[in-house]
Amino acid sequence: MNDVQLRPVLEGRKALVIGVANADSIAYGCAKAFRSVGADLAVTWINEKARRFVEPLAQDLGASITGAVDVSAPGQLEAIFDQIRSKWGRLDILVHSIAFAPKEDLQGGLLNCSAEGFAKAMDVSCHSFVRMAKLAAPLMTEGGSMFAMSYYGANRVVANYNVMGPVKAALEAVCRYLAYELGPQGIRVHAISPGPLKTRAASGLKDFELMLNEAAHKAPLGELVDIMDVGYTCAYLATPFARRVTGELVYVDGGANLVA
Ligand SMILES: NC(=O)c1ccc[n+]([C@@H]2O[C@H](COP(=O)([O-])OP(=O)(O)OC[C@H]3O[C@@H](n4cnc5c(N)ncnc54)[C@H](O)[C@@H]3O)[C@@H](O)[C@H]2O)c1
Repeated sequence: MNDVQLRPVLEGRKALVIGVANADSIAYGCAKAFRSVGADLAVTWINEKARRFVEPLAQDLGASITGAVDVSAPGQLEAIFDQIRSKWGRLDILVHSIAFAPKEDLQGGLLNCSAEGFAKAMDVSCHSFVRMAKLAAPLMTEGGSMFAMSYYGANRVVANYNVMGPVKAALEAVCRYLAYELGPQGIRVHAISPGPLKTRAASGLKDFELMLNEAAHKAPLGELVDIMDVGYTCAYLATPFARRVTGELVYVDGGANLVA
């Protein structure tokens, strides 16, 4: 992508990106891609411990709004949207790139996942997108686009993906229903399904290296994806070039999902 001349097709557009933990995060790829085509950024970190990794990245990208958002902490989502309302007065793009399941519930297979662990995974990784969409929609006064990160394990059984499979399936359904409900306001909603990427969240999955090897082997395009591939896909979908596209599940996996 280095030799591609990028035009500022999202110049002046306002993007909130939730889920940057470090420079490997898919959310960071999204923020960087949006910025590279002219968007203004709001970037969040989950807590003070993460802030020292995320704040310098946000500063490098010239983010004009930053703050803490733990979707489990009452009031924090509302607070970042308050900042956006008072500073920008509107929003064009929302990225939900977060997931969580307690380790013991994630690694023990679905049958052994506790009710509390299931509910926690569902709340942080899925329902929080509904909460964000509800806060974002009134600010998308000129229409907008929303993205949530899913994975192939939502639709096919992937060994060791366990409780995250049903959770991502719910997230994909949420995207379709939000696309339906928000379409009349010109707001488009997509689930993005990246191939496996070496990130902190992925390190919680057992035998993740095997998933990486299999994905590279299966993909017709022959390579693993990187975070900028995901970011540029979201950037394209946020432009008017994709203005009639909504409610899609978009694989960014080199075509691996096509191959049995
Ligand atoms: N890495 C992969 O192979 C892969 C593939 C497909 C989809 N995804 C999805 O992409 C998304 C981003 O993950 P990633 O791989 O970039 O890993 P990551 O570890 O960089 O990002 C996960 C983010 O979730 C955030 N998070 C967790 N609990 C939170 C909470 N309560 N409130 C706010 N934020 C919270 C973390 O702080 C972190 O920033 C996730 O939804 C993940 O399931 C990842």
